Amino acid sequence: MDTTKPMRILSGIQPSGALHIGNYFGMMKPAVELQARGECYYFVADYHSMTSLANADERRHNSFSVALDFLACGLDPKQSVFFRQSDLPEVTELTWIIGSLTPMGLLERAHSYKDKLAKGVAPNFGLFAYPVLMAADILLYDSNLVPVGRDQKQHVEMTRDIAIKFNQTYGETFVVPEPAIREEVATVPGTDGQKMSKSYGNTIEIFGGEKAMRKRIMSIVMDSRTPQEPKPDADRNIVIQLLKLVAPKEVAADFENRLRAGGLGYGDLKKALFEHYWNYFAAARARRAELAANRDYVDQVLRAGAERARAVAGKVLTRARKASGLA
Ligand code: ADP
Ligand code: TRP
Repeated sequence: MDTTKPMRILSGIQPSGALHIGNYFGMMKPAVELQARGECYYFVADYHSMTSLANADERRHNSFSVALDFLACGLDPKQSVFFRQSDLPEVTELTWIIGSLTPMGLLERAHSYKDKLAKGVAPNFGLFAYPVLMAADILLYDSNLVPVGRDQKQHVEMTRDIAIKFNQTYGETFVVPEPAIREEVATVPGTDGQKMSKSYGNTIEIFGGEKAMRKRIMSIVMDSRTPQEPKPDADRNIVIQLLKLVAPKEVAADFENRLRAGGLGYGDLKKALFEHYWNYFAAARARRAELAANRDYVDQVLRAGAERARAVAGKVLTRARKASGLA
């Protein structure tokens, strides 16, 4: 890597439903913190959402909503380039260029694709090609670092394989990126103990309503041990794991110790989780309400972001076209 250039950091998030605290701790918070470390390019991956959502109004609504969420959570559009993926259709051309060098076998091994097939999702071309579009997102901006949760790690590894193959075939063209994964929050558990995911109905939304989120937290299923019983496996309790994300360290450790020793009921533990979760996002909630009342500002941020993104994308695409004999 050329150390005289600032590090280029890039990530995207799909507007396929309401964002949850797994998205926040796994991707958004690290992405926001990385703003101090390099030039960041963050975007709303609306092309990607087409592989799972076929409702235009919902996509428009979710795209705006995700933009509000990200801005409310600390994305600073003065520091970072924030844009909507589809405002740069250049990425679809690059998808074709690199797709023709992507072996079928590589795509067939993608965990996220195989998981969706196993769940009975009827696969379409877009779903199969999903990792190629994601590779194009990453390569189009000469990205060095890609902050994501663990479930996206394989997609970044596929991007590396594709970039290396292109460089070998057509000459040095693309920067080979690295994933940035925070081990302590790599997979945030959902209310059912599986990975928290928009598609599993097990989420705690970042900006969910107070009543609904209290209900969701209070209905997390626990085992049938009595409050008095000591619980040596307290560290594996989902509520404790979630509390560690939203409560001060000492507070979470104290609850964990009380649960381990016996005498703390699950109801009280869940109430504590709700209170800490609600306070944790209070400032962001207020910022989000302000932004939501100022739609023009958000639209203008995305438009300006697309313009800045285009300056880089144009150069890289030209480089790839020339290298592959298109220009
Ligand atoms: P979902 O599974 O809810 O549809 P996405 O696939 O849109 O989430 O993921 C958006 C970002 O959030 C990705 O970087 C992903 O790795 C991260 N992420 C999603 N769920 C979790 C989770 N439970 N724990 C940690 N990170 C997550
Ligand atoms: N596939 C990612 C997800 O579901 C979203 C995404 C699209 C992305 N393009 C990207 C993430 C490029 C990082 C880099 O979370």
